[in-house]
Amino acid sequence: MKKYIMAIDQGTTSTRAILFDHDSNMVGIAQKEIENYYPHPGWVEQNANDVWASTVGVMFEVLAKTGVKEEELAAIGITNQRETTVVWDKKSGQPIYFAIVWQSRQSNSYCEKFKQEGKEEWIKEKCGLLLDPYFSASKIRWILDHVEGAQEKAERGELLFGTMDSWLLWKLTQGECHMSDVSNVSRTMLMNLDTLQYDEELLKLWNIPKCMLPEIVDSSKIFGHVKGLFAQPIPIASMIGDQQAALFGQTCFEAGSVKNTYGTGCFLLMNTKNKRIHSKHGLLTCAGWSIQGECTYVLEGSVFIAGAVIQWLRDNLQIISDSSESEKMAVHCEDNGGVVFVPSFTGLGAPYWKPDVKGAVFGLTRGTSKEQIVRAALESLAYQTNDVLCAMQEDSNMQIEKLQVDGGASANSFLLQFQSDITKTQVIRPVIFETTALGAAYLAGLACGFWKNQEEIRKYFQVSACFTPKMDTQTRETNLTKWKKAIHAVLQF
Ligand code: G3P
Repeated sequence: MKKYIMAIDQGTTSTRAILFDHDSNMVGIAQKEIENYYPHPGWVEQNANDVWASTVGVMFEVLAKTGVKEEELAAIGITNQRETTVVWDKKSGQPIYFAIVWQSRQSNSYCEKFKQEGKEEWIKEKCGLLLDPYFSASKIRWILDHVEGAQEKAERGELLFGTMDSWLLWKLTQGECHMSDVSNVSRTMLMNLDTLQYDEELLKLWNIPKCMLPEIVDSSKIFGHVKGLFAQPIPIASMIGDQQAALFGQTCFEAGSVKNTYGTGCFLLMNTKNKRIHSKHGLLTCAGWSIQGECTYVLEGSVFIAGAVIQWLRDNLQIISDSSESEKMAVHCEDNGGVVFVPSFTGLGAPYWKPDVKGAVFGLTRGTSKEQIVRAALESLAYQTNDVLCAMQEDSNMQIEKLQVDGGASANSFLLQFQSDITKTQVIRPVIFETTALGAAYLAGLACGFWKNQEEIRKYFQVSACFTPKMDTQTRETNLTKWKKAIHAVLQF
């Protein structure tokens, strides 16, 4: 009897395996941290072999913890940190360089060069993305340029590229499947958003051989079966980038529905169904998911540092010992004492797109307390979200009245109330926070008949808390003005 779906959520800071039952209850979870390396300022790398080992580890751990047997698994779904780039040798299966993480800025010079050549609009028109080292194309280019002989090997078909979905699928199927779904490929800067195929002109621009790229497929289908780990042939039935997965997991199936995930970064996505909206306000257009050949598009605003600023307070400043402490500290002080924190440690993403700016804290006095700094750090998540939300309203010509939230920091009620106050929207926290994994599980379950259709899935969505705006207009305006001034100063620095 097949009772469960296993979702693998391969994120920037950890890999998780989560089991869901038919009523979409979370039955068990196993998690393993991923080490990030910072070899130079602004660079972020990971060991792709460690990522693979962590995946196998959590898959077995969650089964052992829950007592669920492999024969009870209907399917496995994969969701992943997007853009992070792995290039490996087809024959040995070994990565030829560390995985270059989405946040890494080491390939910025390629983007700058193309910007100066005036190619940004042309690129955006084709793939919906802005010229930024965030996306995979410049990272692949960097690896092919910096590993001796790599370009020639790639041209001979000896190297393969993949984002984490593709790398894990290849490993799980022992090299049988080299594929990636539209949501992930739409973040490489190599896919044409209209044809949903690789764009020959973009491949030429980046000088990337097509033979190293994964086949582009639907997000929900049986890609292959796990080989060598289980006695049963368990199907892998979904692959989807983590932010798009969260949108699906939040059951944001209607045009205009929006979710915000507070993870390492902050990611706002709006479902635009079959309409591809061209952003004029620094947002990205990409594929949300594709089911039976039908693509749902999304408008996205990506903020690079969100939860990561809380980690920074914990690990670098050591003024909190645990992320959950931040809420207590924030409510401990009456207000932020005039402190404004702009955590642009790895540049500014949407809607500003300035890869080189650094972070800053404004308004410090001798009386500033660590609680006020923590509070200002939390508030920065809400301000950054608001900047993106405003851009989204402009681009879509729609008033956003409801924001569905998830991710680690959505447990923080201080943040969600402040978010609602600053954006003047209803902020809705669902019962299941793990919407990313849930989205991948739903897509896998749909592919193997575990769930019938999206209508059935929608029934499982439950609200745990709803925050409504309480701040008076004057205070809101004053706060927003201070934030704008701080952003302006950071951009000038
Ligand atoms: O685009 C990067 C994003 O997919 C990373 O998500 O959850 O690992 O911070 P997360």
